[in-house]
Amino acid sequence: MYKFNFTGKVALITGGAKGLGKEYVQTFAEQGSDVAVFDIDGQLARETAREIETLTGRKIRGFACDVGNEKQVIDSVAAVVKEFGKIDQVVNNAGILRYGDALADWEKVINVNLTGTFLMNREVVKQSMMVQKKGRIVNISSIGGVLATPAGVQSYHASKAGVIAMTKAQAGEWAPYNILVNSVAPGAIANGTMGDSAGSSTAADDYQAKSRNPLKRRGKFGEMSGILIYLCSDENTYTNGQLILVDGGWAGMM
Ligand SMILES: NC(=O)c1ccc[n+]([C@@H]2O[C@H](COP(=O)([O-])OP(=O)(O)OC[C@H]3O[C@@H](n4cnc5c(N)ncnc54)[C@H](O)[C@@H]3O)[C@@H](O)[C@H]2O)c1
Repeated sequence: MYKFNFTGKVALITGGAKGLGKEYVQTFAEQGSDVAVFDIDGQLARETAREIETLTGRKIRGFACDVGNEKQVIDSVAAVVKEFGKIDQVVNNAGILRYGDALADWEKVINVNLTGTFLMNREVVKQSMMVQKKGRIVNISSIGGVLATPAGVQSYHASKAGVIAMTKAQAGEWAPYNILVNSVAPGAIANGTMGDSAGSSTAADDYQAKSRNPLKRRGKFGEMSGILIYLCSDENTYTNGQLILVDGGWAGMM
């Protein structure tokens, strides 16, 4: 029988203070995990942690961490291992999007979306998962890692495509340690800032209704979490290195 029971597990979720990351913090905690919430906004991460701890009764702690800063990642992962004893599950969700062609914006987007995921996984694997000889990691990509737009966000597309390729390499390298790594690509999801990237919630809904998306709407709260729960569970023993799109069927349409 499949139970998806996370009691006794420790999850680390980046960009967990708000948006989709906050949804993941809540659903992992409801499933039984204790959770470390990483965010560049440390105060909001701590507020979110308190809120979800009250809601679920799990141990939730907020940490200020810029995922693109190597020292902060090394130190913050060490702090989680000290506080919680180990890390079983990671969702690399922190991400940004910048419009235009300024080099500084390109470097910032690659730094957070791609380098941040690389650094976080390197440290979690080294400091905890290789020692336990077990781990489950999800790297959040985007439909923008598969399909491109002419909207002036080349860095976002490149970073999210990079996440998909890096996921396959990590899955290959760490399989001998029973560490399974997959990527999940959201389409347009309502409860994250980027799901509103058409300009406003209403504009984003209008756009989805007219686009190739066969469900003709954005994703809703909770529609991302199920696949993450499966991929990070003990029941997942053989799905590794995959990309799973949660986009209503959008990327598959002509
Ligand atoms: N919402 C969508 O429709 C959608 C679609 C495709 C992909 N995604 C991806 O899902 C993830 C979450 O998207 P969202 O819409 O919830 O975004 P959001 O902007 O609402 O939340 C992102 C969170 O990441 C944090 N963050 C930003 N830079 C950081 C850094 N350097 N270090 C640590 N934390 C940092 C922010 O403070 C924020 O809490 C992103 O990776 C995004 O690319 C979202």
